Amino acid sequence: MKQNLIVENITKTFKLSKKQQKLKHTHKKTITACDGISFTAHQGEIYGLLGPNGAGKTTALRIISTLIKPDSGYVEVGGSDIFNESKEVRRKIAFLTSELKLEDHFTPNYLFTYFAKLHNLDEKLINQRKEALFRRFGINPFKEVKVSDLSTGMKQKTSIAISLVHDPEFIIFDEPTNGLDVLTAKNVTDYLLELKNQGKTIILSTHILSVVEKLCDRVGIIINGKMLVNDTLKNISHSDNYIDLETLFFDLIEEHKGVE
Ligand SMILES: Nc1ncnc2c1ncn2[C@@H]1O[C@H](COP(=O)(O)OP(=O)(O)OP(=O)(O)O)[C@@H](O)[C@H]1O
Ligand SMILES: [Mg+2]
Repeated sequence: MKQNLIVENITKTFKLSKKQQKLKHTHKKTITACDGISFTAHQGEIYGLLGPNGAGKTTALRIISTLIKPDSGYVEVGGSDIFNESKEVRRKIAFLTSELKLEDHFTPNYLFTYFAKLHNLDEKLINQRKEALFRRFGINPFKEVKVSDLSTGMKQKTSIAISLVHDPEFIIFDEPTNGLDVLTAKNVTDYLLELKNQGKTIILSTHILSVVEKLCDRVGIIINGKMLVNDTLKNISHSDNYIDLETLFFDLIEEHKGVE
């Protein structure tokens, strides 16, 4: 069976506190972060999620990763559904987002082992994976340094390595190159291509259009919680009047200004 990740018509509305209403300059009591989002990430492909700040990307990824429940809709991760088989879903996925913070008092070395043990890996496998991932992401020089003393990029590298500890089939990365220097960012995107070639299913949310153009097989563009584009990059780039992804993206944002 193909290890696809299917998202069907998910919606999620949040209540807004008085403080949130003020921050958003609105009197509305709710915000619909995801408004009927559907797409399929195919095995052996990278699906790129694009959208301006507040579009609903992270909310969709949190739903897929079982951190929050949608109000309606359905998600299936390699045949396991997020409602009835959330444990299986969690076992199958790597989820990376800036909202998940590493515990300040511990070192990358300690944390990697800790999460590996949570996944019931034996010592030999833990050491093999640690060696490979730490080497790959250049973590060895600071593996015994407390998280509180690491730079943003070092923390991000550590989070990436830890998210992959159980060698999952599905990789869900929310802005993985945030805070990384260009060399390390390239390291991450090269690694995603390797994972794709190993037959993993990858969803990548990013603001970097050139990364999408280089890396992704399929693209979804979300604006105001709605999926406005969902197609292969090939089809998108062969459509009428297409110039480049940046022009398409800006045109869509312009079209939907003030529309909710
Ligand atoms: N727990 C919450 N309570 C209230 N509103 C929320 C909550 N989580 C998200 N939102 C709102 O839902 C909308 C979508 O947020 P989300 O984080 O999904 O956007 P995003 O596309 O990931 O944006 P960014 O590019 O800035 O990361 C935003 O308006 C956000 O403020
Ligand atoms: Mg986000």
